[in-house]
Amino acid sequence: MPVVRMLRQVVGPLAQHPACGCGTYGPPVRSLAISPRQVPADASFHSSSFSDTDHPRVLITGGLGQLGVGLANLLRKRFGKDNVILSDIRKPPDHVFHSGPFIYSDILDYKNLREIVVNNRITWLFHYSALLSAVGEANVPLARAVNITGLHNILDTASEHSVRLFVPSTIGAFGPTSPRNPTPDLCIQRPRTIYGVSKVHAELMGEYYHYRYGLDFRCLRYPGIISADSQPGGGTTDYAVQIFHDAMKHGKFECNLEASTRLPMMYIDDCLRATLEVMEAPAESLSMRTYNISAVSFTPEELAQEVLKHVPEFQITYNVDAVRQAIADSWPMNFDDSNARKDWGWKHDFDLPELVTTMLNFYGSDARVAQAN
Ligand SMILES: NC(=O)c1ccc[n+]([C@@H]2O[C@H](COP(=O)([O-])OP(=O)(O)OC[C@H]3O[C@@H](n4cnc5c(N)ncnc54)[C@H](O)[C@@H]3O)[C@@H](O)[C@H]2O)c1
Repeated sequence: MPVVRMLRQVVGPLAQHPACGCGTYGPPVRSLAISPRQVPADASFHSSSFSDTDHPRVLITGGLGQLGVGLANLLRKRFGKDNVILSDIRKPPDHVFHSGPFIYSDILDYKNLREIVVNNRITWLFHYSALLSAVGEANVPLARAVNITGLHNILDTASEHSVRLFVPSTIGAFGPTSPRNPTPDLCIQRPRTIYGVSKVHAELMGEYYHYRYGLDFRCLRYPGIISADSQPGGGTTDYAVQIFHDAMKHGKFECNLEASTRLPMMYIDDCLRATLEVMEAPAESLSMRTYNISAVSFTPEELAQEVLKHVPEFQITYNVDAVRQAIADSWPMNFDDSNARKDWGWKHDFDLPELVTTMLNFYGSDARVAQAN
């Protein structure tokens, strides 16, 4: 029996999407009695329910981590302060609380998520809540709940209310059997961390909801992100943030990865701009729904050499953390992001020297940097 006929018998009548011929057959129902998670019959790939002249109404989950506040600042400049709601389960510091709307949202509370999306007429959702790689290995049950169950709540809420959904993935979505130098968009993905497994799951579930229910799912695989005014949340690439702080404060740094460990990295401004750009890209320009993005790739030794140009007394020593090293050894060394560059014009601004100068300047090294130059 032809596969489509078999499917029709299993799932009922098939509503073909005009643009891609994919089906929007049937809602993602978890429990009919309590919460029928209906996808509207007209679910569309151009799901934004605001007109061209309106701004999107944005919700950011997990917004108090390394990336969320910066993303909120960028989006508020573009769409207006009150159109961007930051949320988390932690108490926000004063400057965040006073800079725009903030609400409590636990992504494990599905009903609360729906209320927030409905009451605030959310049209775009940036799903940043997660437990990162090293933290996830230290608490697998919690990582599984937040990164997988939480994602299911987000997918269903976004589908049900035709919300355009961004979920970040990571270099950690690859593993030791993936090609590592460079790593293309489509290849073997067998990560060995709960973080990586949950991110592959997110990529696949998001794409599945896109093709089956018309969810406007967009995903970028971020490299390690380097930022000055926000602290990293327990990832394997955290050393590349801490090094600048320690260089300036103590003139030395103890690195928990081996000197030759090469990983892809990116300055936060590039990361957040890429995120906005892929969300604004016309749906027709996206040949895929999950893209690698890349900027620079370096080892601790190379980063230390660059820091030394500005802080001549700087010393780096190594005290390798076996868990983080094993994770890093299974991750890409270089990311192939040619599809992002081709499809929606992705281009990074920050190379290694610029990134180092920017970070050291932030930590108050203006005088030293000027002297060195
Ligand atoms: N920072 C990076 O280098 C990097 C690299 C690749 C991908 N990413 C991805 O980008 C996203 C943001 O990363 P980040 O570095 O800001 O993470 P982070 O760890 O700094 O912040 C995550 C936030 O999620 C919140 N959170 C935890 N449990 C929650 C729950 N049940 N409900 C709601 N919020 C909850 C935490 O309170 C925290 O503020 C994550 O999905 C991460 O996987 C980050």
